[in-house]
Amino acid sequence: MITHKLTVAYTEASQLSQLEDEDIKLLKEAWEACDSAYAPYSQFHVGAAVRLANDLIFKGNNQENAAYPSGICAERVAVFSASATNPGVQIKTIAVVAKTKIFNLAVPVTPCGACRQVIAEYETLAGKPIRIILQGNSEKIWIIDGIANLLPLMFHGGDLKK
Ligand code: THU
Repeated sequence: MITHKLTVAYTEASQLSQLEDEDIKLLKEAWEACDSAYAPYSQFHVGAAVRLANDLIFKGNNQENAAYPSGICAERVAVFSASATNPGVQIKTIAVVAKTKIFNLAVPVTPCGACRQVIAEYETLAGKPIRIILQGNSEKIWIIDGIANLLPLMFHGGDLKK
């Protein structure tokens, strides 16, 4: 038997000014989206902004529902909106931010498993890594270069064929 070991990596910035201008703008758009999240049940507000290869930006936020499983995360709202209106255009970067009044979110929140799978789908389609930029309620920012760093050994469409 062989044990295989995989390495994941992310980069941490200690302040916003360490980022490129276009990433600062994308984070700003994600925070704007966060402000209009519909999260009356969790009070956990998440905002996402997707930058496409054609430089269009699509925003999303979490949309909750009294029937809890009918809600959806911010990341999927943003990514599906981008793909619905710009099918096949590569997603370059997604910024995701979160805040809640209930406690202090000192570290960035990472996408849930379902959102990782959705991001993986579009990364596989384009064949280029999607950068994921994350921020909570502090200056600390995490930058992740490619979904494999969040979803190692991912399932993708190629697994459905011989
Ligand atoms: N949520 C997101 O929008 N994105 C994530 O990555 C994690 C969780 C939302 C779902 C739900 O509305 C609330 O946060 C609490 O789980």
